[in-house]
Formats: sequence, structure tokens, C-alpha cells
Amino acid sequence: MKEIKFSISNITNKDTELVKNILNSGWLTHGKYTSLFEKEFSKFTGSKHAISLSSCTAGLHLSCLASGFKKGDEIIVPAQTHTATAHAVEYTGAKAIFVDVDFITGNLRLEEIKKKITSKTKGIIIVHMAGYPCDTKNILNFCKRKNITLLEDCAHALGTYESKKHVGNFGKSGSFSFYPTKQITTGEGGMLITNDTVFFNKIKKLKAFGIDKDIKDRNKPGDYDVKDLGFNYRMTDFQAALGFKQLLSYKKNLKRRHEIAKRYIKNFINSDKIIMMPYSKNCSYFVFQIFSKKRDDIIKTLKHLKIGFSVHYLNPLPKMSYYKKKYKLRLNDFKNANNYGLMNISLPMYPKLKNSEIDFICKSVVKAVK
Ligand SMILES: Cc1ncc(COP(=O)(O)O)c(C=O)c1O
Repeated sequence: MKEIKFSISNITNKDTELVKNILNSGWLTHGKYTSLFEKEFSKFTGSKHAISLSSCTAGLHLSCLASGFKKGDEIIVPAQTHTATAHAVEYTGAKAIFVDVDFITGNLRLEEIKKKITSKTKGIIIVHMAGYPCDTKNILNFCKRKNITLLEDCAHALGTYESKKHVGNFGKSGSFSFYPTKQITTGEGGMLITNDTVFFNKIKKLKAFGIDKDIKDRNKPGDYDVKDLGFNYRMTDFQAALGFKQLLSYKKNLKRRHEIAKRYIKNFINSDKIIMMPYSKNCSYFVFQIFSKKRDDIIKTLKHLKIGFSVHYLNPLPKMSYYKKKYKLRLNDFKNANNYGLMNISLPMYPKLKNSEIDFICKSVVKAVK
């Protein structure tokens, strides 16, 4: 059996040809593909606004700033997530408050959130871990009652729904990632969606240095004012073209992800040493995650057979030196997040993955845990 990669992008030869044409055109940023990508993203997610960015982290950072988070505020984040979720809070001077997650969804639960609410709580950032929807509606209702801002980290969640609504539309904003392993990729890149026009306008300015006028609205170069201490969080036009093209075929991609998930589940269902989530039509299946006490034996086998895998994530954030030292955190307070880190493994999930490859991966994993 030849190598099975952990992830393969859906970039076609036509897409690379398009990138070449854009590079040759000399119009590398602020171009037409940026706005095409944003419009298509709004359409796909059903959001009022979409704004392209240099990363999902940029989206989270700008969302925290535009929500007014500042020193003295407390913002709740999951203990088990990518460090970007918590860093975005800390960039503003506010404090990231870690809350233990559910084992096995990896998502925040309202009962746990409630235990950490204080008079300083100004926001909650939920993550739809591995594409599995968080308990979004209930958390949003709680936020509304308490006057707390809800933000959504949708880095894994392109194609994730709750009650037929695309995630990212529940909170003030949803931030998506196009890092190479994601469902669609622009190399680095992100997109923020929001249904609040005032919030959108704030983000738009903060994304581009705090400049008050779009390039197309300027009478002459430099004809603008700077009203805020903004950033340069733009995406290039050739990245946007790649994202746009992959998004056009994403429905098909998502359908195949669901077929793959069902096949994994069918193959693993009789193994009592493998824990996994039941099939969900609302999950975007960023990866296919399983959990096992014998995770390290599985890793050894997969490495030997040249089958790609990943771990999302190995160490919960309270274990990371920066946060552990700063807030004197104890791992005992985050038991589920820790178990999640000890037991999870992400298996390949992409449309080009063949059924015979899925079956081979499953057979190898089952053998490894026996
Ligand atoms: C949950 C989560 N949030 C945020 C990010 C950051 O995304 P980006 O690399 O696009 O900044 C990631 C990255 O993979 C992630 O997994």
C-alpha cells in the first residue's frame, strides 16, 4: 500500500493557471477575486457580510477588538482548542478564562461555562471542534440574558450547521480558517462573517490600517483619513481566487466528507477500544476524530504504514507555559480537556481519499488497538 496523506487540497490545474494569470496581471491585491470570494462566502453561509482576512486568528483578534474587549474584562474560551482562540483575547489586554470541555465533542458546555461567569465576563468564544457543532443556540440565549458577547471560532466549521443555520451566524461574528489542512485552503487565510453592519464596518477599517476609505472610493492615491490604530490583515487576490474556486465546489466536497465519515463509523462500530462521535448531518467533518486509550499504539502503526494523521490537540491550553505561568493554572481543573488531549487522533478526510484507503486505515487501526 502506498503512502496515504493526512490531507490533500482540492486545488486543480485550472486553479493554478488562474493564480498564474493573476500574478502576471500585476493586480495582486484589492482585486476582483477578493470581492467574488467574499460574496460567494456570504452566499454559502447565509450571512449578511463576509470579509476576507490574512488568517482566522486575524478574524478572532479583530472580533475581540470590535467587541470592545479590554484590560479588566474576562472572556471565556475552551481549555481544549488551538492557541489562537485564547491569544486573540489576550492581544486586547483582556483575560482568557479557560473552561473544561465535553469529552468527547471537545466543545464548551453551558453548565461548565456558568461556573466561570463573574461580573467581569464580557464575552464567550465557542469553537466548533473538528467541525462538530457546539451547543450554540443555548449558549447564545444565555449570552443574551447576561448581556455577554458571543463570538464563534469556526476554524474547523465550514459546512457545520445548527438548526439548518450555518454556524458563524449565531454570534456577533464567525471566523474561518483556510490553513492548508482545512476544508478549503488559500495557504494562509481566513474569512469573517457577521450579520451586524456596524460591526462589519468596524472590522473593515481595522483590517486595513484604520483607513476610512476603500481604494475604489479614493479620488487620488492617498486620499483617505486614518481613524483607528488598524492592522494589515488583508488577503491577496490570488489567494482569494483559490478560495473562491474551491468554495464553488465545496457542496460536493462536503457530501463526500459525509460519505467518508459514514464509512469510518461503519468500519469502527464493532471495536470496543475505539470511541467516536455518532454520525451527525450537521458536522463539517474537518477531520475524522477517534479516541482511544491506545492512541500511542495507533500512532506507531500509522507511522509504520505511512498513513498520515494528526492530533487536535495534544496539550490543552492550561498546560501551555504561557498560560500556565501567567494564570497559575492546574490541569486537574480541566480533566476532560486533558483526557481529550491524551486520547484523540485525527484520521484523513478529503474527497480524494478512496474507499479502499479508508478500509485499510480502519483495518490497521483496529489491529493496533487489539
Ligand atoms: C480552532 C482554531 N482556531 C483558530 C485557528 C487559527 O487559524 P489560522 O491559522 O487561520 O489563523 C486554528 C488553526 O488551525 C484552529 O484550529
